[in-house]
Amino acid sequence: TGPLTVPKFSALKRAGRKIAMVTAYDFPSAALADLAGVDGILVGDSVGMVVQGKSTTLPVTLDQMIYHAEMVCRAVRRALVVVDMPFMSYQTGVRDALINAGRILKETGAQAVKLEGGREQAELIAALVQAGIPVLAHLGLRPQAVRAVGGYRVERDRERLLADAEAVERAGAFAVILECIPVDIAAEITASVEIPTIGIGAGPRCDGQILVFHDLLGYAAGGRKPKHAKQYANLGEIINQALRQYIQEVQEGKFPGPEHSFS
Ligand code: KIV
Ligand code: NA
Repeated sequence: TGPLTVPKFSALKRAGRKIAMVTAYDFPSAALADLAGVDGILVGDSVGMVVQGKSTTLPVTLDQMIYHAEMVCRAVRRALVVVDMPFMSYQTGVRDALINAGRILKETGAQAVKLEGGREQAELIAALVQAGIPVLAHLGLRPQAVRAVGGYRVERDRERLLADAEAVERAGAFAVILECIPVDIAAEITASVEIPTIGIGAGPRCDGQILVFHDLLGYAAGGRKPKHAKQYANLGEIINQALRQYIQEVQEGKFPGPEHSFS
């Protein structure tokens, strides 16, 4: 079927086909996600929390996003790859946003960028789109606003969310992430815009879903288990067992065997 382009991705909504996305941050995870058939892969700034072990996404740099995005793009054949613009890579103005989003497209092979915010970012989204840089918008819980909001919580302001969704669509965003908002509001937004809505903690009536790779697979450190995430496997447990067996076999002299040795 060939690689999924931005127009083909947006057309999935009109075709009534639900969209499945995951995050990925490196070559093997992106290769597995692509091979399994996900429609989109987000190189999320969640890399700061799930891979770097930090407590927020704020410290993540543009160079780090480009480093991870490059590895992901090298592995992907079909899925649409979108890269998060990290904190302070676009909030400082349209010119900075253009330069930084431009770097992401020029240096990684990604198809699009994502940034957080609604009406207040509409002008910036329009400028990027006009420059030929597709934008995935992100409403609801916005992790880059954690200092202003004072924590991570469900966003329930219906009027604001509806107006923001309309604004990012009008600005030219090709789809919109809805993070941690009530099911009914997510359904109302999904019915009111023509671009796909991709939910995370936004209920089943979005056009698609996205989960963080490590949450989906039970591979997150420190028992991270957000309410919105379903754990489809327990990789943490599988890895723990394998490592313990390896340690034991080394200690008992059972590994390496003749089949792993050179005579
Ligand atoms: O960084 C991320 O992983 C995200 C998704 C949760 C939407 O922004
Ligand atoms: Na993000």
